[in-house]
Amino acid sequence: MSQSALPDQRVIVVDFGAQYGQLIARRVRDLHVYSEIVPCDITADEVRAMAPAAIIFSGGPASVYAEDAPTIDPAILELGIPVLGFCYGQQIMAVTLGGEVGHTEKGEYGPAPLTRCGESALFADTPGEQTVWMSHRDAVSRVPEGFAVTSRTDVCPVASMECAERRLYATQFHPEVRHTAFGNELLANFLFGICGLVPDWTMDSIIEDSVAAIREKVGEDRVILGLSGGVDSSVVAALGARAIGRQLVCVFVDHGLLRKGEPEEVEAVFTEQFDVDFIRVDARERYLELLAGVSDPEEKRRIIGTQFWKEFFAVAQQLDGVKYLAQGTIYPDIIESGARKTGGKASTIKSHHNLIPFPEGVSFELIEPLDHFFKDEVRALGTALGLPDHIVHRQPFPGPGLAIRIIGDVDAEKLEVLKSADAIVREELDAYNERLFQETGVRDSERSVWQYFAVLPDIRSVGVMGDERTYARPIILRAVESQDAMTADWARLPYEVLARVSSRVVAEVPGVNRVVYDVTSKPPATVEWE
Ligand code: XMP
Repeated sequence: MSQSALPDQRVIVVDFGAQYGQLIARRVRDLHVYSEIVPCDITADEVRAMAPAAIIFSGGPASVYAEDAPTIDPAILELGIPVLGFCYGQQIMAVTLGGEVGHTEKGEYGPAPLTRCGESALFADTPGEQTVWMSHRDAVSRVPEGFAVTSRTDVCPVASMECAERRLYATQFHPEVRHTAFGNELLANFLFGICGLVPDWTMDSIIEDSVAAIREKVGEDRVILGLSGGVDSSVVAALGARAIGRQLVCVFVDHGLLRKGEPEEVEAVFTEQFDVDFIRVDARERYLELLAGVSDPEEKRRIIGTQFWKEFFAVAQQLDGVKYLAQGTIYPDIIESGARKTGGKASTIKSHHNLIPFPEGVSFELIEPLDHFFKDEVRALGTALGLPDHIVHRQPFPGPGLAIRIIGDVDAEKLEVLKSADAIVREELDAYNERLFQETGVRDSERSVWQYFAVLPDIRSVGVMGDERTYARPIILRAVESQDAMTADWARLPYEVLARVSSRVVAEVPGVNRVVYDVTSKPPATVEWE
């Protein structure tokens, strides 16, 4: 069951396997209405139990007449709850209510000029002609009884339809995609004009509700949290600090594999700024011993992950009165693990939870205050709670840390070299990103460099410094542009930025005599070297 505070007023997005499913939920939330994604096999009874104020049917890749095409419990359309369907959502609404769907001759993909016909509350205050985003081959050819056609395009005679009396609305196009010029207005018309919702899901109300939910659940008990220095666990800690103060024990396992200055920053934030019970475990020596001589990347990952839980539970078992284990699970983790496949049934088991290796006889109840938030909402929450930018906007950083940026085996000397070089890389590229921001006035992930770091390979090369021949280490500079790390392009950094990084690294980091730049994209390479 979810531990986050859920507002009374919510919209459910019924997911038919949409490319844009998460986007719909996010657009609704951007309008300050809470929304949640549910699978399309949800039953009318389950929907009734969730008592949503409105329902949105997403698009989906299937043809409604395909053998295994997703269907919908027809009774959902009889609940008296307003429904808005997009694309496949329109088609499924049409066939479920007795209309027809056929193939259009050539399909319609991309921006399309749309013409409104007649009055429609969905299109209120939008122009008669507007651009919409289409992506379909099938389309409604005959609307169900009682429905009116409210817009069309040259290719699509039913670009939208509605039965205002029953508050059933649908569009063939995608209002959730930015290329639909008035998509946001249409969504707002549906939520506020048609459903009468109130835009009161704001950061203040989110914090207030979350704090109240944590307090109510935890009571006088203690909660333990593994703090990694990453965004999610830090936001849980900040929220926990607000809700239960020193009843929250934050265990920060310092494995020595974080970037230069990071452990000190984490400690400063959670001892000086937030009033929690902060425990820093100095495990640096133990990790170095375990990693000595290990060069296989997967073996390194395994050792680091296993040792984290050992260190964590060693502390946890010494504490009295700890009933809960807090985790920074976020909404995409839940969606991607398929945990809510059954439409939010309480019996659902979240597979990723099984990964926590509780020692014999130890068990805690889980508490996951972020399990209904998208990443950008988690960041906004962090900022609203007063977390500094260096935590909230931290670059993605692998759990195994610098150990997988040292190719081959890890030792203290290599770690020192890599930390120093990496600090210079970050300093120079932070400054470059800041210049881009000053020039454009927007912090745009498409324009700035997304992730950047140094890698230490397991080789040496010849160089010359002064009159001396050197035989020292190279540093690899990796800098990529990306949206989600699934694909990435190497950043076209200006030569002067590369030159500064190179001259500073060889001048300031003892033992390094060469800097090379990785000009490979993903695929075929990966972002990390190990
Ligand atoms: P790759 O190297 O697979 O990285 O292209 C994609 C993104 O994931 C991060 N990454 C990791 N994160 N544990 C993590 O928590 C890991 O073992 C790991 N390996 C890669 C990487 O930094 C990039 O953002």
